[in-house]
Amino acid sequence: MNIKATLFASAITLMPIAVVASDLTIGFSQIGSESGWRAAETTVTKQEAEARGITLKFADAQQKQENQISALRSFIAQGVDAILIAPVVATGWDEVLEEAQDSDIPVVLLDRTVDAPEELYLTAVTSDLVHEGSVAGQWLVDEMAGADCRIVELQGTTGSSPAIDRKTGFENAISDHSNLEIVRSQTGDFTRSQGKVVMESFLKAEGGENICALYAHNDDMAVGAIQAIKEAGLNPGKDIKIVAIDAVPDAHLAIANGEMNATIELTPNMAGPALDALDAYINSGTMPPKWIQTESKLFTAADDNQAIYEMKKGLGY
Ligand code: AHR
Repeated sequence: MNIKATLFASAITLMPIAVVASDLTIGFSQIGSESGWRAAETTVTKQEAEARGITLKFADAQQKQENQISALRSFIAQGVDAILIAPVVATGWDEVLEEAQDSDIPVVLLDRTVDAPEELYLTAVTSDLVHEGSVAGQWLVDEMAGADCRIVELQGTTGSSPAIDRKTGFENAISDHSNLEIVRSQTGDFTRSQGKVVMESFLKAEGGENICALYAHNDDMAVGAIQAIKEAGLNPGKDIKIVAIDAVPDAHLAIANGEMNATIELTPNMAGPALDALDAYINSGTMPPKWIQTESKLFTAADDNQAIYEMKKGLGY
């Protein structure tokens, strides 16, 4: 893709859309602020609500499912028109979703899926999380071109749908390639600090020269790991190839600097499609599809990552 097309494609995922005003009140249960991507999603959700004249009641769960369940119960008690939730883990939601349904409050899932009956929520706005892992795995298959490679994996939050699905997708993609082997895999909880700590332990246990590639379930963990790799006297992106997911500005900068190799974009604008679906459902009874899928685009050193970094930073990402 040429640079203009690349910038346009990225900009479109970040800019609030002008839409008709509404007098809806919507509760948003956010996971927390574990990553740059998460912070961007919070910002964009507030912008998208404001652009529609929606009153957004925001609750930060600080990574705890029990806080999310309490927030949902509080939204239900307040009689909100709808609820947005980014569920921290996949299981344990049936009861509170039933309570929302009993109160006729539609619930929309943002960016993560749940293991609950589909009829308990209106729709889910997410990427194809398994596909993201497959794209990362396929990138490494192509990059290694048959050469042996010992891989370390930084998983996302244990029990979260992106950690489960991104692992599955990556493993599927490399399964027919005996030259590629995952030798260590551990959670870094989607944070920069844990990404660094766990990468340090991988380097110590394996020896840096015996690790050929890092697959991180998000960019923040990859950025933390880059620091650990540098402190171990190795060159990230060269001695150890790095592929991750999100395409946050710092990942584009790391690719521009040759310290990271690839990232798969996850738009932080899940709220735009979610609020459109809710508006159509509440105001005209239009039933949305059960899954509103967002795009997953691969960025590599072939893209103008310096320009994309500057453009995303300019948008307040
Ligand atoms: O659910 C999406 C994931 O959650 C993002 O990839 C990650 O950065 C975030 O914490």
